[in-house]
Formats: sequence, C-alpha cells, structure tokens
Amino acid sequence: MKIAVLTGAGVSAESGLKTFRDSNGLWEGHDVMSVASPQGFANDPALVLDFYNQRRKQLLEVSPNAAHKALAQLENKHDVTIITQNVDDLHERAGSTNVLHLHGELLKVRSTFDEDLILDWKTDLNIGDFCEHNHQLRPHIVWFGEAVPLIEVAAEIVEQADAVIIVGTSMQVYPAAGLIQYAREDALCYFVDPHPSIQSNSRITVIAEKASTGVPKVMKAIEKLS
Ligand code: APR
Repeated sequence: MKIAVLTGAGVSAESGLKTFRDSNGLWEGHDVMSVASPQGFANDPALVLDFYNQRRKQLLEVSPNAAHKALAQLENKHDVTIITQNVDDLHERAGSTNVLHLHGELLKVRSTFDEDLILDWKTDLNIGDFCEHNHQLRPHIVWFGEAVPLIEVAAEIVEQADAVIIVGTSMQVYPAAGLIQYAREDALCYFVDPHPSIQSNSRITVIAEKASTGVPKVMKAIEKLS
C-alpha cells in the first residue's frame, strides 16, 4: 500500500520539542516573526542565528518517540513517504528513510547567495560563517513568507496514496495544510491529534489521542485492511 504521512509539531511533542500554537503563538518565548522570517533575519541576524543555535542544541538532546518509531516500522510492509512540516530529524533517527521536509531542516544551513548551496551543520552557526562564495550562511529553514519548494512534489505523493495519515498538525499553515485536499476519494484517511482541528467524517477517521498511542492504533487499523 502507498502511504503518505503528513506530520506537524505534535508528532515531536512527546520527544520534548514544543509545538507552535500550544505556546500561545510564541516559539520558545520569541515572536515567531522575529525569529522565523526574512525580515527578522535582516533586522537582527545574530538573534535569529542564536535562536536556531538553541533549537539545534535542544534537538541533539532529545530522541524519537513511539510515534516516530511506529511510522518508521510502517516501511517494512508499505511504500511510505513522510511529508513533515517539522525541521527536526526525529523521523530519520527513528528509521524512516523517505522523509520530505516541507519547511526545511534544522541540521542544515545554506548560502544567502546561492540557495542551492546547502551544507550539513550540527554546531552553532554565527555571523561570519560564510559559504565558499564568501556570503553569510543561514538556517536551511522555510521562513514565513518564503516559498515552499517541495509542495508540488508533496501534493503528487498525497494524490497517489492509498492511505493518508495526518499526525500532530493544527492544519493552520498553508500550503502544507492544503495537502489533505489532494487525497483520493478512495484513500483511507486518518487524523491523530489530542485536540483535533477537524471532525471525523465519511472520509477521515479522527483519533483524538496523543501521537504515541494514536499512531499505533492507525497502524493496527491499516494492518487489518491490508
Ligand atoms: N500528539 C499529537 N498531536 C499533538 C500532541 C501530541 N502529543 N501535542 C500537541 N499536538 C497537536 C496540537 O493539538 C496541534 O493541533 O499538534 C498540533 C501542533 O500544531 P502547531 O503548533 O500549529 O504545529 P504545526 O501544525 O506543525 O505548525 C505548522 O507552522 O509555525 C509554523 O513552520 C511552522 O511547521 C510549522 C507550521
């Protein structure tokens, strides 16, 4: 079975990474637009780089949870693509091998001169860390107002899926939130979230639980059907 999994911050919540909208609009105490927008970076690059340095340090101290692991196990029997809005690498560390990061990756940086010049980066990134063209490096993150280059690829994956599993997203940020519209009429759709933003209907089964218990339940349901 072809399975498309769309995850958001909620899938990493039980690993200890804060979600966005559960923290009343702040991200670790910062107004999102001051640390996750091109304007914020232009206004105070040192603040933005330090913010992501903190996020990178925090990521290296946390681990995948049962939901990441269950989704990785799915690959043993099915053709799975994880389409995540998250910039953490917890899906990969849990064993998922086909992960598409719609909003970029915390453990990568890129040149402010050539956006295709992307480097792996696990340590602090500071002002003066330049690319080979002598331009400042920046986090390889899609900031608010920037394009989401992988959205078309993601839509095609959802369109081809026999099952779509949505975990831990408030479905408030487009274009990612619009991906559910691409699910085929005959596709099985599951939505796992303790505070779901949508209701169960003829097409979508909502499991109003945390990812660590809700995702294994989806696995069982899919095994029964396949
Ligand atoms: N298990 C599953 N879901 C959970 C859990 C949990 N343990 N805890 C919280 N949630 C749910 C919340 O109920 C909420 O619906 O996770 C969702 C998190 O929503 P947001 O904080 O809005 O995160 P997300 O949907 O990923 O945000 C999308 O917005 O800030 C931008 O670019 C950023 O990628 C992010 C995008």
